[in-house]
Amino acid sequence: PETGCLSIIVLGASGDLAKKKTFPALFNLYRQGFLQSNEVHIFGYARTKISTDELRDRIHKYLVHGKSDSEHSEDVSKFLQLLKYVSGSYDSVDGFRLLDKEISEHEISKNSLEGSSRRLFYLALPPSVYPPVCKMIKHCCMNKSDLGGWTRIVVEKPFGKDLESAENLSTQLGNLFDEPQLYRIDHYLGKELVQNLLVLRFANRFFLPLWNRDNIDNIQIVFREDFGTEGRGGYFDEYGIIRDIIQNHLLQVLCLVAMEKPVSLKPEHIRDEKVKVLQSVLPIKPEEVVLGQYDSYRDDPTVADDSNTPTFATVVLRIHNERWEGVPFILKAGKALNSRKAEIRVQFKDVPGDIFRSKKQGRNEFVIRLQPSEAMYMKLTVKQPGLEMSTIQSELDLSYGQRYQGVTIPEAYERLILDTIRGDQQHFVRRDELRAAWEIFTPLLHKIDDGELKPLPYKPGSRGPVEADELLAKAGYVQTHGY
Ligand code: BG6
Repeated sequence: PETGCLSIIVLGASGDLAKKKTFPALFNLYRQGFLQSNEVHIFGYARTKISTDELRDRIHKYLVHGKSDSEHSEDVSKFLQLLKYVSGSYDSVDGFRLLDKEISEHEISKNSLEGSSRRLFYLALPPSVYPPVCKMIKHCCMNKSDLGGWTRIVVEKPFGKDLESAENLSTQLGNLFDEPQLYRIDHYLGKELVQNLLVLRFANRFFLPLWNRDNIDNIQIVFREDFGTEGRGGYFDEYGIIRDIIQNHLLQVLCLVAMEKPVSLKPEHIRDEKVKVLQSVLPIKPEEVVLGQYDSYRDDPTVADDSNTPTFATVVLRIHNERWEGVPFILKAGKALNSRKAEIRVQFKDVPGDIFRSKKQGRNEFVIRLQPSEAMYMKLTVKQPGLEMSTIQSELDLSYGQRYQGVTIPEAYERLILDTIRGDQQHFVRRDELRAAWEIFTPLLHKIDDGELKPLPYKPGSRGPVEADELLAKAGYVQTHGY
């Protein structure tokens, strides 16, 4: 690993994402020894005029997070000492010069270390300010060390609102930084069971002959949350569930489920295969879309009274290639539903010439539960134990909590920040991938924005509009029993 001074600069340091995700992830990396006190310094930058101590106070509770042991609180105070806050606006040369001065001072103070200077800028900010912030970084804050090193930029989604705006943003950032300097984060790519998909598919003989249109009937990728937009109504109303979850998180998962085997594990080889999947997706048919909006959504004062924004969507994607022709990929996401869950459900075709009449038990299904309680299980038909020759559905179950007791599964953001420090772009979205993802959804999004497609109402705490279940059945999904 590289050594030398590492400066991590969190822009938007007083915001929600920074408090809830970025700083806790940095703290966990620190606790595990990935960020060494003698090398690293963390800078917060935002418009809010507060002192460093005030910022420390604000994030303290997110780091403590229910843990009361004294060792933990000692770590929290040591970590907070690494933090320094600089306030300034996002297009202010003075603000960014001041930030650069602070970073340089830190680098000089660590000068005794052999090695390079590394500057990691994390933009926990809305995309509207990416261009000015990136200009300022380029203008004022690039790594200048003679000993080498790098400057890297991490950007969050939503990266644009449609194909045109995303391309525009990509061009602006591309004029300032090279692709290897840009890390477009999609935190679903940092989840344990999403990272496991490549291993599962390509290291197991079981799956190789089965993973195709001859055997698989349909695939669902589902995201449910049992809470609404809660304080984020203003943001959400502008974007909606397709831009917030489906176009990025669920589509990334789809790529890993559907892609061909990459030439190697090199990031470029993997991303090449993902792009091919995206490019093979056929235009979405409006009759294969169901949109919903939960009943109390517009009560939020930050949401427009006549909002047409979907908080729920089921969309069927069809991949036009040799492996997947005819297999619907059903992407489903919703807020304020009856449970919180994210899972991939691969449903196999019926057994031909079934002599057990086991069809009534349901089909074989392979389920990968991304959260909560990571698990993989196979639903299969077995003989009902006992004297009768009858069949039941049962499960082969690998629940991580039981199988890997005592192993802490890292948070997605933790992993991805560490990848950025290590310069590994495998789990980040490449520019052409992003473009292809927007190409798929832009026509549909424009139809919604123009009011041509309208969300159906559903009750908070329900399964969403019943029309979504009907679409699922039409696409070929057969409800199975048990789990
Ligand atoms: C974010 C979305 O990207 O992902 C949120 O903006 C959503 O709306 C969140 O709640 C879900 O992340 P996770 O990791 O809790 O599934």
